Amino acid sequence: LKITTKSGSRNKTAPYLHGLFFEDINHSGDGGLYAELIRNRAFQGSDVTFGSVPNLRGARIIESENPVCAWAPTLTAWKSIGGAVLSLDVLNPLSDALTTVMRVDIPQNATGEVGFYNEGWWGMDVRPQAYNASFYIKPNGALYAKNVTGIKVSLRSDLTDDVWVENAITFEGDLSTHNYTKFETVLKPEVWAPNSNNTFAITFDAAEAAGQAFYFDLISLFPPTYKDRPNGLRKDLAEHLHNLAPKFLRFPGGNNLEGLSIATRWQWKKNIGPIIDRPGRPADWRYYNTDGMGYLEFLEWCEDLEIEPLLTVYAGYSLDEADVHPANTVPEDELDFYIQEAVDQIEYATGSVDTNWGALRAKHGHPEPFVIKFVEIGNEDWFSDSYYWRYPRFLEALQQAYPNITYIASQATEASPSGVNTSIAPGGMWDLHHYETPQFFKDRFNFFDNWQTVAGYPGVQIFVGEYSVLSRDRAGGVDWAHGEGRFVYPTMVAAIGEAIFALAMERNPDVATLSSYAPLFQNFNSYQWTPDFIGFSADPNQTVLSTSYYQQQMFSHFKGEETLPIINTKGDFNPLWWHASTENNRVFVKLVNAAEYEVPVSFDVDFKVKSVNGTILRHDDEYGFNFIGNATAISPVKFTLDNGRNSTTIKAGGNRSTVQWNVPSLSVTVLELN
Ligand code: AHR
Repeated sequence: LKITTKSGSRNKTAPYLHGLFFEDINHSGDGGLYAELIRNRAFQGSDVTFGSVPNLRGARIIESENPVCAWAPTLTAWKSIGGAVLSLDVLNPLSDALTTVMRVDIPQNATGEVGFYNEGWWGMDVRPQAYNASFYIKPNGALYAKNVTGIKVSLRSDLTDDVWVENAITFEGDLSTHNYTKFETVLKPEVWAPNSNNTFAITFDAAEAAGQAFYFDLISLFPPTYKDRPNGLRKDLAEHLHNLAPKFLRFPGGNNLEGLSIATRWQWKKNIGPIIDRPGRPADWRYYNTDGMGYLEFLEWCEDLEIEPLLTVYAGYSLDEADVHPANTVPEDELDFYIQEAVDQIEYATGSVDTNWGALRAKHGHPEPFVIKFVEIGNEDWFSDSYYWRYPRFLEALQQAYPNITYIASQATEASPSGVNTSIAPGGMWDLHHYETPQFFKDRFNFFDNWQTVAGYPGVQIFVGEYSVLSRDRAGGVDWAHGEGRFVYPTMVAAIGEAIFALAMERNPDVATLSSYAPLFQNFNSYQWTPDFIGFSADPNQTVLSTSYYQQQMFSHFKGEETLPIINTKGDFNPLWWHASTENNRVFVKLVNAAEYEVPVSFDVDFKVKSVNGTILRHDDEYGFNFIGNATAISPVKFTLDNGRNSTTIKAGGNRSTVQWNVPSLSVTVLELN
């Protein structure tokens, strides 16, 4: 290979190429990145059950397969202590948004400690730190309002009698029988619980409370959050994202933007402001979303990670509950309402405090406007047959209101029944999704070369908004089913396939400008889709960063500011693929070896190489993956290329150098030439 570093031969790399795509799937939000530790905190219910084959594209549904598609509030995750009787109540709503509460009846003959506890999102991590606990309470009737003066709030083991921390909340005077009273306390355990089998309890002394009844709602518990945001993100998971050096965040979906029906789409106006006013929704991935992590939280997350928000706006197309029904599309004459919703949505983020929606954002604690550079209109609209009229109408209104935003289409060209094509105009962007096999990506190393001309989209750029190696190579392509071909966790060969595709993008920065792996998270206790980037549970020590995560991390950190031309003087791509870039006088050479044997490489550079540092991700078994107990089995290893080691020779003379190296089998490497 011949690498030239002359300034005239370089191109700028795509500044935002590697980013994140987040939607609430696999309990990535509720029960995941959203730091709330209480599961079903407002009795909104949990899993949405379904029948028939779901119309969720490619979903690997693992949970509840009940015959009827239905959703209802439940007492999921709540358990009684000391014989208290727990039930749901709809006659004493906490707010217009939170209408179902929990009634707690303390039996007349109760003794000792009596109350209830929450199991958390399959456990809770307890360590010496401050936990903000809060809840709303109302006694059932005037008789009871006077009689209880103490409630205990605690974190305890679910396996033993250990109570890690307990606070007594005392109050004077009467509790209102008409309004709820909010209680808050900070729990500060002094010990580390040995595991995450812990619960959060609220208890009474039966001597005081026997025979009484209370209503509870919005019972919440937050550990310290990422950048200390109230109602914020789980620290450890947010830090894993930060360590990827991402450049943007696409949110809130994916399918989860669209809703199982038009009424249950993701509605930004319903997920801003105090959480007591957020009703949540029965969401696309078959569990209830609290919407605690709402629009403003997403924007603040971008601010904290210093990345660009990439907003996906609802474009009038929802998924239906089962394949047998047509998807729900907003009728043409009702579309204006949804277009205005999108216009307002952007104003909420970017408008000054003098605008209607900007003023509301200020009221919610963020007077400073955000900057939005990218907006996607809809999601995967190739599944619909109406994008040809929805896309241009959204585009026109949005462009008029916000001309400086780059708009992304989720479908490129669609012929209307009258034969008129809707196509993306120059300056626009197209979101492509690829869940494929390793071979698919290997075959597309040249996919973006001259793409605009070949595909016939002059001036259009590509956003690979969702991609991953989903299954092993097999006749017939990708394995969508539960079959053994579909990966449960990203494997070494997945990282190799994705790395080759990332090289294909990196070497075409004029076309492939943004990309994000999907899905981002998998809660090991409850998930609907595999494979996923990061696996986690309640216990931060059990988080698993995948092969795919590490591959992207390496590419993100070593993207470089300019691409360098490489001429291959001998041989061709496959089984080795490569690309080079440069930044601050360092040259990065990325090498992917898909073979099960070493492949020698030799490259010539037009400067004197003083040292070569490398980072390599490799494994003997192409189907190897990281998992709990072996979480870093496949992780990046740093090394140095020295003359004589690993068949390496570095010859440097004058202003030229030659580096020779045997690239290890099944590996992804970045060499850093100084
Ligand atoms: O990433 C999972 C799903 O795959 C997304 O929600 C959807 O956009 C795609 O079909």
